Amino acid sequence: MNVLGIESSCDETAAAVVVDGRRILSSVVASQIAVHHPYGGVVPELASREHVEAIAPVVAQALAEAGLTADHIDGVAVTQGPGLVGCLLVGFCFAKAYAFARGLPWVGVDHLAGHLYSVLLAEPAPRFPFVALLASGGHTAIYHMEALGRYTMLGQTRDDAAGEAYDKVAKMLGLGYPGGEIIDRLAAQGDPRRFLFTRPYLDKSQSDFSFSGLKTAVYRHIREYPPATAQDHADIAAGFQEAVVDVLVHKLLYAAAAIRCPRVALVGGVAANRGLRERLSADAAFKGIEVYIAPLSLCGDNAAMIAAMGYHSLKSGASSSLDADVYSRSPKPAAPESKEGSGK
Ligand code: KG4
Ligand code: ZN
Repeated sequence: MNVLGIESSCDETAAAVVVDGRRILSSVVASQIAVHHPYGGVVPELASREHVEAIAPVVAQALAEAGLTADHIDGVAVTQGPGLVGCLLVGFCFAKAYAFARGLPWVGVDHLAGHLYSVLLAEPAPRFPFVALLASGGHTAIYHMEALGRYTMLGQTRDDAAGEAYDKVAKMLGLGYPGGEIIDRLAAQGDPRRFLFTRPYLDKSQSDFSFSGLKTAVYRHIREYPPATAQDHADIAAGFQEAVVDVLVHKLLYAAAAIRCPRVALVGGVAANRGLRERLSADAAFKGIEVYIAPLSLCGDNAAMIAAMGYHSLKSGASSSLDADVYSRSPKPAAPESKEGSGK
């Protein structure tokens, strides 16, 4: 089954064609970084407008790169939420109209569920059950992935998401947006032991996180000792990253050990972080735990993960109704749709 995936929840317009929820024929991502960069963060109204301009060309490019025409598409999967409503609506309405015009089934997919299942597109993919850390710009949480469509949240951040902390610290250091990748690169040149920042919740046994204290600690440090040299910037970035990585890796491995699960997975935008990938692999190997990390191209927002996730719903005969709506927040990632559901 060839599924066309569409994603527009934040600042990336993406479309992909995935065969049988596993083989990616194309995955096109049009980034809006240049548009939002001068503002140091995503400007929702600008983001929606950019999506309107990009959506049709991006879908056309995804079909062309897959070597297919619209006649070869068997179903459409689109992000329904959570995200910025104005942005979600662009992809969602496009997908509805596309499916309606061509008489195709379509399903709304939860963005977080898409991220969680992105690791199933890795080679090799993890077997169920596994414990997954989803760390992105809007969410940081740990899930027990029991089976396809069955998973429970074990813990989540009580304030900022890990990616949000990266973006805010990058802004404090005047490094630009989005901050994660910039800090990641800078941290590789810094000394993580020169400035030791707080590790919030590291001592707590539960799987919850908190990153606002760390963010404040970096802010206070910068105010008291303004970085003067490139090395100062790199050392602050390295110290901050070391604190984030310590907490994320410890919590994920602790959560897996607590339920005696021998496999962990890392997904979401922050999963692209080199320091995090390396440390998780090393610490898990030491503990005899298998590690699966989403492919680099599928860590950030993309439509391949949405198509892969939607495939399982479409395969079971699900199709969302035309009056389904987007949602800005969800209490937890929705399971793949049942035949009656709309994915909410
Ligand atoms: O998953 P994603 O693309 O969008 C959301 O669903 O939020 O994640 C974006 C977040 C941003 O906060 C960005 O700074 C962070 O992922 N990020 C990184 C890296 N690349 C992106 N954080 C740390 N290291 C990276 N290499
Ligand atoms: Zn995302």
